[in-house]
Parts: sequence; C-alpha cells; structure tokens
Amino acid sequence: MNMQRRQLTALALALGAAPLQAWASGPVKIGFLVKQPEEPWFQDEWRFAEQAAKDKGFTLVKIGIPNGERTLAAIDNLAAQKAAGFVICAPDVKLGVAIRRAAQRHQLKMMSVDDQLVDGAGKPLADVPHMGISAYEIGKQAGQGLVGEMKARGWKFEEVGALRVAFDPLPTARERTQGALDALKAAGFPAANVVDAPQAKTDTESAFNAANIAFTKNQRLKRWVAFGMNDEAVLGAVRAAEGRGIRQDAMIGVGIGGSQTALNEFAKPTPTGFFGTVLISPKRHGYETAVMVFEWATQGKVPPLLTLTSGALMTRQNQAAVRKQMGL
Ligand code: GLA
Repeated sequence: MNMQRRQLTALALALGAAPLQAWASGPVKIGFLVKQPEEPWFQDEWRFAEQAAKDKGFTLVKIGIPNGERTLAAIDNLAAQKAAGFVICAPDVKLGVAIRRAAQRHQLKMMSVDDQLVDGAGKPLADVPHMGISAYEIGKQAGQGLVGEMKARGWKFEEVGALRVAFDPLPTARERTQGALDALKAAGFPAANVVDAPQAKTDTESAFNAANIAFTKNQRLKRWVAFGMNDEAVLGAVRAAEGRGIRQDAMIGVGIGGSQTALNEFAKPTPTGFFGTVLISPKRHGYETAVMVFEWATQGKVPPLLTLTSGALMTRQNQAAVRKQMGL
C-alpha cells in the first residue's frame, strides 16, 4: 500500500500535480456534492459513487448543497479534510465561476455532473469536465412516448392539452422540454394546445402547484399529456390532475429519470397517469464521475471535457427489461 502510494506520489509529482501532502496520509478523499440529496436520482448517484469508492479504494464524502452558501462551505470543508477533488451538481449553475474559483484556490480537482456550470453570461464552463444527459434527445424520446400512447389510445390531438412543466432557468431542463415539444410538433400536435407550467423549484410540490394553476386556466381541455425535466415534475402534474378528476384514462405523463420516484408509480396496483419515463443512468453519472475525479487526482488522468449519456423509454410493462439493459 505504502509502496503504491509512493509510486503514485512520484508519478503525480512528475506530472506536476497539486499538493500531494494533501492526501499522502490515509485514503484519498473525493467529495460528491449534490443539490437535492432527498431526490431518488441523487441518492442513486451517491450509491453508485460509493460503489466506485469501494472498488477503487478511496473515501467518498457526500454533502448536500441546497444553496450557494452551503456549496462554498462544503468546498472549504473538503479542503479542510484534505480531499483531493470533488464531483458537483450545483443548486444553481450560475454559481459556476465562484465554484471553480473555490476549487482552484484549494487546488481541488473538480468535475460537474447533471447540471453544467455556466459563467456570468450563461456560457458553459467548457474547461470544467462535465457528464450530463443528452438533454434534447432524451426530451424527444419522452415526447415520442407521449405521441405513441396518444395514438394507441386513439386520442385526437386537437382535443388534448400538453402540459410543459418548465424550469427554464436551467439549460438542461429547457433543452429536455424543448426536445419533447419538438417531438409532439413533428407528429402534428397543435402548438396552440401546449400549456406552460413554470415551476419555482425542481421538486414534486413545485410542479404540483404549477400544474394546478395551468389546469385551472385551461378547463376546456379534458385530456392531457404531461412532460417536464424529470420524474418529479411529471409526477407533480399527474397528482394535480388527479385532484381535478383527470385520472389515468385522461392523462399520459412521461418523465425523465427512472429512479424510485417512477418505480413507486409503476408498483401501484392500478396504473396512474404516470405512463412512463425515459430511464437514464445514475450508475454512469455516479460511478464514472467519481472514478474520473479519483484517477485525475491520483494519476493525472484528465477526464473528457464533455460526456453525454443516453436514455431509453421505460413503462410499467417493460421496466424490468429496460432496467436490465441499462445495467441497473
Ligand atoms: C438534473 C435534475 C435531476 C436529474 C439530473 C439528470 O440535475 O434536477 O432530477 O434529472 O438532471 O442528469
């Protein structure tokens, strides 16, 4: 072990890497900071990152960062613990420059996951390695799922409302819903029937409130499809619809995620309006990013600057097969 550590240290020194004393004693520490630790997606990411830590022999430090203040405090805290680097999904991507500055000040390797950090002008921080979903494509898959099920049910597009649960300040969220919208339009869905429901935060409750307002304003439409940035957004819409008597036979919701939020819906004895989701990979986002930062810190192996992951449409019917296919 000591031998290995000495070799690594020599290697890193040769590569001109940052302060090695930082992790020269005890196992290497890698932080994994997420904006919404209560959300199943992020719990899954943490679980797979823990798996990586076990496989590669480093210590994972998990910290929830619900706001900017806690984010910067968490980075200071990692530095005080002599961590080597961290993976981050920030509570606000506009904190990008401040986060990068803090990481540089402490000479911590950093990589973003899920939500790509931006600068003051809203431009992605292209020099910070990032792994995210191919947002527009995955949104399109959600939209195609909605179209397929409307057709299967013989719904006339003109009689259907499409609820876009929106969180437009976040680029990945905007791209996802844009993809879904474009898929609907490409299939001939009338743009006039699309209703925006802007959510204040990215959780189920905010989506529920946003959807309720939208339904109140659009009572002429009796059948609905719903899409949004993630499963929580669509679940909020489905619950709001139920509260107004719009049930499974009049609602088709397709989310993005496929974590416990979606699985709980699929496990209910009677199907709900939550028809499906585009399953994405918390394993890739959690395991691979943690390994990338670890190998960067210990071997000088710089992660690819941009990795975009794909998804697959998953419904109550095909859930087992699709999850297996995704290695979950
Ligand atoms: C964002 C969302 C999460 C999840 C990830 C996937 O961070 O808030 O719910 O969809 O993207 O990358």
